[in-house]
Amino acid sequence: MKKVLAIGGSSSRNSINKRFATWAANELAGAEIQEVDLNDFELPLYSIDKETENGIPQEAHDFKSLIKESDGVVLSLAEHNGSFSAAFKNITDWVSRIEKGTWADTPMLLLATSPGGRGGQGVLESAKSIMPHQGAKVAGAFSLPSFGSNFDDSGIVDAGLKSSFEEQLKAFEQAL
Ligand SMILES: Cc1cc2nc3c(=O)[nH]c(=O)nc-3n(C[C@H](O)[C@H](O)[C@H](O)COP(=O)(O)O)c2cc1C
Repeated sequence: MKKVLAIGGSSSRNSINKRFATWAANELAGAEIQEVDLNDFELPLYSIDKETENGIPQEAHDFKSLIKESDGVVLSLAEHNGSFSAAFKNITDWVSRIEKGTWADTPMLLLATSPGGRGGQGVLESAKSIMPHQGAKVAGAFSLPSFGSNFDDSGIVDAGLKSSFEEQLKAFEQAL
């Protein structure tokens, strides 16, 4: 059975992106899903001086091990001022110092959602160009606008959006 990580790129306790990533990963047939909460990897704000003085914290190694042990990653990004949340950027900065290729050649389904009408499209677009340089094999990408009205406990409500999502999920499934 394929092991897939579901990661919300946010440290909000009630992150809509964590919820969306977990739901999306569970739409895969016959995969073992592990939900990853960034709050379990609390790290100091990266600086070269902290790294030189104290080395790379264990939490960054633990996060890297999770990636290496997985067959795929479903990552849903929160958009903060058009970019990654500070919590997500910080963890990737630390992990990038362990070795080249943060995402260890792992297939990735890139998602983003927000309460607003753009659905985190800004961060999704930059992630699509950045992630391949960080060792992710981006196999699909999808942004869900207006999370509050387009998503409920059964998943994506709008038929058109659901069908676009399913196309991207299928591409990811084939890459696993
Ligand atoms: C500091 C900050 C900046 C934000 N910037 C954006 C933004 O640029 N675009 C956007 O669509 N939403 C923005 N938002 C709203 C987030 O999309 C919203 O908080 C969303 O719930 C974040 O996802 P999460 O619940 O997974 O943390 C911002 C929120 C915060 C707290």
